[in-house]
Amino acid sequence: MNLSQTAEKMMNKYLILQHPGANSAYYTSSEELALAELQIACNRLQTRSEKIQAEEIADLRYLTFEVETELTESDIKILSRLSFFFALFQQVNSNDPMLLRPIARAPFEFVDEKISSLLKYAGKTNVQFTRMMVNVALLSSDFHYEDRIRLLDPVAGKATTMFEGIIQGFNVFGVEIEHKSVHEATIFFKKYLEREKFIHTFDKHKSGGNQKTEIITQYKFSYAKTREEFDVEETNKKFQMICGNSQNVSDYFKNESMHLIVGDLPYGIAHGNTVGKKFKSVTRNPSELLDLSLPDWYKLLIPGGVIVVAWNSYVVGFDILNEIFKKNGFRVLDAEPYTKFEHLVDKSIRRDIVVAKKGT
Ligand SMILES: C[S@@+](CC[C@H](N)C(=O)[O-])C[C@H]1O[C@@H](n2cnc3c(N)ncnc32)[C@H](O)[C@@H]1O
Repeated sequence: MNLSQTAEKMMNKYLILQHPGANSAYYTSSEELALAELQIACNRLQTRSEKIQAEEIADLRYLTFEVETELTESDIKILSRLSFFFALFQQVNSNDPMLLRPIARAPFEFVDEKISSLLKYAGKTNVQFTRMMVNVALLSSDFHYEDRIRLLDPVAGKATTMFEGIIQGFNVFGVEIEHKSVHEATIFFKKYLEREKFIHTFDKHKSGGNQKTEIITQYKFSYAKTREEFDVEETNKKFQMICGNSQNVSDYFKNESMHLIVGDLPYGIAHGNTVGKKFKSVTRNPSELLDLSLPDWYKLLIPGGVIVVAWNSYVVGFDILNEIFKKNGFRVLDAEPYTKFEHLVDKSIRRDIVVAKKGT
């Protein structure tokens, strides 16, 4: 047996069964997305990985990969968070590829993951896709899930991204221009905290300038599972939503900087991109909103932090958004697998993401 055969023999093969999710169209179109998310996650494992691919076994889709040494507990924690994760197996014997050993998933949820699916409404971002964006942001940043992550969604809608952040145990912040959405999301969250018996405080207040368009409403929650956790800064969680304009986020969060910014830009179908000083102009194309907002988002992001935004690539191409991000000081991650996220949502939406980092 030569050296390369010995090396091959020592590789460990793992298989992740893809979660069917609630949206069969998304499942059908998400093979490449799952693969890209896994490739990004594999860079964070403690062991070198290769042969990352999708495989059909007995009519079910698995995402598979090989690693030099067996996965550690922390590796399994990273994989368990993947948006497509359903079950993890290790191949027992390469001579019998169907012999699989199940590996227990590592529970990571700070709150039950149902929280992001309970509110249903037109224009809601697919929950699995949102989790993927949050993971891609964290895994591409210089930070770890265990850090006290602060996540901002500057176009928050009814807070799907924020709820996904809460599941991960992050402190979450959101800005949304439509009052009705902010109201419904915060009422829902308040009821949730009460029903689940979290220790919490809630504060709502208006602030801002003399002009109507300068006035913002802030909804601030602090919460924890126990009184002890609530009383300690490190374990007291924050949920803060502002009814305001994403162009002004650095004014709204003067005392907070963000590790991650994740948002689903308006597609111009259920919601437009509201731009301009008086918020009068509503467009389908998100370039103007990005152009006006990115200087502020850049200010808020900690070096090593990452921004992920989704948009409709039928309306504007990647190259144009890429330029806007670069012009504003970001480094766009535009090599594979970051180029593999584009997929069809329906006849009028082809969704893609931009992933951009502050600093090296
Ligand atoms: C695609 S939706 C986000 C949906 C959200 N992820 C959810 O699942 O609820 C985009 C949101 O951006 C909001 N928006 C548009 N222009 C904005 C602006 N200038 N500032 C803040 N929010 C804005 C829209 O009102 C809309 O709710």
